[in-house]
Amino acid sequence: AAGMLGAGPLAGKRIIVTSGPTHEPIDPVRYIANRSSGAQGTAIARALAALGAHVVFVTGPADVAPPEGVEVVRVQTAQQMSDAVDAALPAEAAVFAAAVADWRVASQSDRKLKKTRDGMPKLEFAENPDILARVAQMATGRPGLVVGFAAETNDVIENATAKRARKGCDWIVANDVSAATGIMGGTENAVVLISDDGAESWPRMGKDAVARQLADRIAAALA
Ligand code: CTP
Ligand code: CA
Repeated sequence: AAGMLGAGPLAGKRIIVTSGPTHEPIDPVRYIANRSSGAQGTAIARALAALGAHVVFVTGPADVAPPEGVEVVRVQTAQQMSDAVDAALPAEAAVFAAAVADWRVASQSDRKLKKTRDGMPKLEFAENPDILARVAQMATGRPGLVVGFAAETNDVIENATAKRARKGCDWIVANDVSAATGIMGGTENAVVLISDDGAESWPRMGKDAVARQLADRIAAALA
């Protein structure tokens, strides 16, 4: 049952979960971030742990606290998240729920940028490592099940299906985060699970319920 050490369908399975936003520094006091609360990733980690998995929870600076009963690795940047995932491998499965910043500021300043001294900054960006794509395409040591997320604002199934092919992951959990849905930062989610079997739309439900269903699916896939 939940919380019992060594029990449950995922007992003995190591699963990496990334969650939350990343923060990409501009200078020591400023950063670029996104609106991810970390709620869905946290719920997934909790649900996997409840089924007995050893969860390595690699989290950016999220609004919600990490769940009990998981190994927590706290990071700030995409590069740190990528390194932490590498350090956590090998694993039976990996779930990439984090909203990783696609870009970092190319030349971060070690000193606070000053209005008078520096004028208006011209920020240049460099591309961050794509953690999901890298892990999904590992020649050796790839987790048996690699799950990505796709937060889209339009053409959700089409975009997410293309994303799954491009990244090489097994499943994509896609959702519509356009402002009208109120999903980003909310407590509910409406997802489409995209796999080899096609696109399966789940009804809108609490993020905890989405997490439990996904954990059950993962347990079935790893059984
Ligand atoms: N992801 C990742 N590392 C990155 C960017 C994304 O691991 N540097 C993962 C996310 O955790 C998510 C999936 O990739 O599971 C899809 O993220 P998303 O931002 O939707 O995909 P992108 O390829 O970055 O495409 P987009 O241009 O739509 O942002
Ligand atoms: Ca992205």
